Amino acid sequence: MDKLKVNGPTGLKGEVSISKAKNAYLPILAGALLAEGIVTFKEVPNLRDIRTMNKLLEHLGVEIEQVEDGTFTYQTQKLKTHEASYELVKTMRASICVLGPLLSRFKKARVSLPGGCAIGTRPIDLHLKNLEKMGAEITIEGGYVEAKVDRLKGAHLTLDFPSVGATENLMMAATLAEGTTVIENAALEPEITDLGHFLQAMGAKIEGLDSKSITIHGVDSLRGCEYTAIGDRIEAATYIIGGLMSQSEIKVNNFNPVHLDAVLEKLEQMGAKLERGEDWVKVSPSKIVGGEIDTAPYPGFPTDVQAQMVALATQAEGTSIITEHIFENRFMHVPELQRMGADIRIKGNSAIVKGGAPLKGAPVMCTDLRASAALVLAGFCAEGVTEVQRVYHLDRGYEKIGEKFAGLGATIERVKE
Ligand code: UD1
Repeated sequence: MDKLKVNGPTGLKGEVSISKAKNAYLPILAGALLAEGIVTFKEVPNLRDIRTMNKLLEHLGVEIEQVEDGTFTYQTQKLKTHEASYELVKTMRASICVLGPLLSRFKKARVSLPGGCAIGTRPIDLHLKNLEKMGAEITIEGGYVEAKVDRLKGAHLTLDFPSVGATENLMMAATLAEGTTVIENAALEPEITDLGHFLQAMGAKIEGLDSKSITIHGVDSLRGCEYTAIGDRIEAATYIIGGLMSQSEIKVNNFNPVHLDAVLEKLEQMGAKLERGEDWVKVSPSKIVGGEIDTAPYPGFPTDVQAQMVALATQAEGTSIITEHIFENRFMHVPELQRMGADIRIKGNSAIVKGGAPLKGAPVMCTDLRASAALVLAGFCAEGVTEVQRVYHLDRGYEKIGEKFAGLGATIERVKE
């Protein structure tokens, strides 16, 4: 298994281009199942999660063709099967995104329950309960969700929690339902709005995007379209934090800084010198002081940037308290950072980080994508070699992470094993 070797301490310099968002593209690719025509996607990032979604879609019967680098066409005339098997779903929870589109257009779906994952139990009760309210008959048999319906019916849905995945699944399900669906307490993440724009491009009738109440008027069919997803705000945040941790001057391009308001504001409160343009953020060497961070649904501080903040806090002056409110077990980076010398204590769902303890390179490993990214960032500040093992976790969500950081001048290399 490949590993990333970071030789620290290392500074960064120059500019980096952010890829299109994996978390926008995963539901959007699943949404291609809804279209009767050909859907063309551009600038699709070359990531393991995207390849997993493609494998699942091809297994279902979607014809996918690469037109040029990053451009793909998707066409679904007929399904080969209604089943998303455990083998595919267990490697990526976002596979559950096919449930809404399958049920809406093809009236039947058999999708493996995703089960737990490294960061928590992550149930899908909100997806299922609300699809039932839209008329789906759902049973759980042998670890599979079996769902069928004549035609989904519009309904007034209120989510108990603004789940990103549930909002996406229900929005897609509602596009071809009979009548109007209202999703109250919908998630507000920019990826939801992006999915909405994609569905609109296919002819879906959606109002209230960017609000907690989304209305979808069902239509009889959706057509093909061409679409490019938004830039990856989480990837951008990771590079910005990397720049701050290594006291560097870098420019992070090709994403919308508005999508990172909560992160940028928190970083500025902690002393970061940041400049922002329409689609870039420039980082300058800054004295970082400790802060209090609480993860929350958008527009709050994203859980997907929590691990990187813990890494940053190890370099801050003073103590930081970082509290995780979305997932119950999302501190796998902490024992690894401790092995590198960080002074961190876990109390309940908070990490209390005393900044300033010198970090030393070590072999480290995490089973969560963002946690692995945090270890790479820590490697920039550590004395000696940090070997981040099992790079395939990073390959799930960071396009060319080794090359991009090397392009910024980091002493980093990917070692094949
Ligand atoms: C998405 C993102 C993930 C991010 C998360 C929160 C994708 C592919 N993944 O995951 O990177 O960390 O949003 O911003 O976009 N929950 C339930 N029942 C449900 C659904 C969710 O209890 O039916 C709970 C989960 O266990 C979790 C919380 O709600 O504690 C948030 O989950 P959700 O917003 O659904 O996250 P995902 O869509 O899985």
